[in-house]
Amino acid sequence: TIKIALLLILAYLLGSFPTGVIVGKVFFHKDIRKLGSGNPGSTNTFRTFGPVAGMSVLLVDVLKGTLATLLPAIFHLGPHPLGILFGMVAILGHTFSIFLDFKGGKAVATTAGFILGYNLAFFCVCAGIFFPILFITSIMSLTAMLCITLFFIFSFLFHDPYLSSMMFVLLILIFNRHKSNIIRLKNGTENIIPFGIYYWL
Ligand code: G3P
Repeated sequence: TIKIALLLILAYLLGSFPTGVIVGKVFFHKDIRKLGSGNPGSTNTFRTFGPVAGMSVLLVDVLKGTLATLLPAIFHLGPHPLGILFGMVAILGHTFSIFLDFKGGKAVATTAGFILGYNLAFFCVCAGIFFPILFITSIMSLTAMLCITLFFIFSFLFHDPYLSSMMFVLLILIFNRHKSNIIRLKNGTENIIPFGIYYWL
């Protein structure tokens, strides 16, 4: 229906909102896309502009995924799996943003937001996997790729074929968006975040 179509456009626009670029331009008068890894995400913002800026971008990027995923529930659109579609559209908006010439981030924070909006129990499982890995590795890209693989595997515990299919699609998308990171990881030149065991060693 027209209502679903309009809300899908809203989900795409929500996902497209270029938080990292806006925070960089407004508060630091710099283009995050030209600094560090060049990614307009929270990790690069964290490393480049510090923890407050990084965590702010993270919060907004997560919440836009959550809000988009909850749109069908908020507007009483019916069947639960619609959240999958809306979450996917928001993640694609984040990754191929209309405000950034259809470029964008690496889908990690918005994926977290989708999971939070779609299934709170699964989100808790994912958080329990994510934080120890990030703390040990101090590398967000490596953590993101390990985690999405584990999330896909652990999703089967929830007997929700929509969720597992979504995790599989996101696994492909996230690995694809981290090609430059994979090269840096192989060369031993990947950027690390300034906390965690690997950083302290
Ligand atoms: O948030 C995306 C993350 O996985 C990698 O970001 O800036 O290290 O390429 P970056």
